[in-house]
Amino acid sequence: MRKITASVIKADVGSIGGHTKPSEKMLRIVQDRVKESINKGLLLDGFVSHTGDDIAIVMSHERGVGNREIHQFAWNCFLEATREAQRAGLYGAGQDLLVDAPAGTVRGAGPAVAEIEFTRDPQSKERPAEAFIVFTADKCGPGAYNYPLYAVFSDPMHDGGLLLNPKMRKGFSITVIDMDHKDGDRVIKLEIPERVWDLAVLMQNPDRFAIESIHSRYVPEEQIVSVSATRLHNIAGKYTGKDDPVALVRTQGMFPAPEEIVEPFTLGHFVTGDARGSHVMPLMPVAINTAVAGPYCLPLVACVAFSMDAAGKFSEEYVDMFGNVAWDAARLKIQKKADEWRRQGFIGPTMASHQELSYTGIVDALRELEKEFEVRK
Ligand code: 13P
Ligand code: MG
Ligand code: MG
Repeated sequence: MRKITASVIKADVGSIGGHTKPSEKMLRIVQDRVKESINKGLLLDGFVSHTGDDIAIVMSHERGVGNREIHQFAWNCFLEATREAQRAGLYGAGQDLLVDAPAGTVRGAGPAVAEIEFTRDPQSKERPAEAFIVFTADKCGPGAYNYPLYAVFSDPMHDGGLLLNPKMRKGFSITVIDMDHKDGDRVIKLEIPERVWDLAVLMQNPDRFAIESIHSRYVPEEQIVSVSATRLHNIAGKYTGKDDPVALVRTQGMFPAPEEIVEPFTLGHFVTGDARGSHVMPLMPVAINTAVAGPYCLPLVACVAFSMDAAGKFSEEYVDMFGNVAWDAARLKIQKKADEWRRQGFIGPTMASHQELSYTGIVDALRELEKEFEVRK
């Protein structure tokens, strides 16, 4: 029996020809550091991929959530990749490293972080095997996971498992964070299904409220979901790139199955993000290691499924969930949805809310225009 932590830490530290993808050299640097750290015993295992211009490191270790060494290791990987991006003249080198040197964890310093600690015990009655999936999204805010997580954990129309699995029927505790609150974490915990409409009220505003974690009510200490729910504009005070959230979701047994968890992504739900982080576009499910190359930076999400052995190893083989023919029809539909929506340009809801835009340069233009307004007598 072992306590193992799965940590996903992701950052944009430079990309080729604009906000498209990191270079192969940057990725190799991070992969080499991960290998080294496995050999040194800091990590049990690790996996590196990119989604659009963000590099994601998935790690297993025994140091718990928010561990200084693990977070510093990821930070140093991103610093080294930044130096390579600078050398090659890539765009936005070091973009998400918003503080000079984070003291402990990198949460609140720019990178997106999702972590869960769990017991890995092959003799366990409930969880002799560990299956989990990692979502990595680019060109969108942390509220991007609200719709799919709400659908999977509270609506049997999307997740028949809520009816079929007595352990899931016990419900879930969902923690939602108020991302507008800048001084510490302001959170609310809602028991589902009893408080499902209260959850819906919060989910309506994904720019402000995001699901941060979900726990089982069948075994309350079991955490199922962790989402990186921090806003970069709160750290930097202005627009410095989109938050591009990651989510870690444990699956199967007493938790939803992967096929249930990915179902809502067929919709291509509208999220805030894409070009300059200032528009509203549908979220496109893509294979891992996909570059952003579409008009207006269609927001992307990748999904990788892993199994972990008793020693914490998981990276040898994996399933690229959205890199499958099953998703081709969804992609075509979503691209058409985006193209149609784009025809409206900047007018009204195709651009982000004014609250979001208040971190961009449009406020300067509005301030100037204010001076010319007069009230007609
Ligand atoms: P990233 O946050 O992925 O760098 O995207 C920022 C952007 O402004 C794209 O137009
Ligand atoms: Mg970028
Ligand atoms: Mg990005």
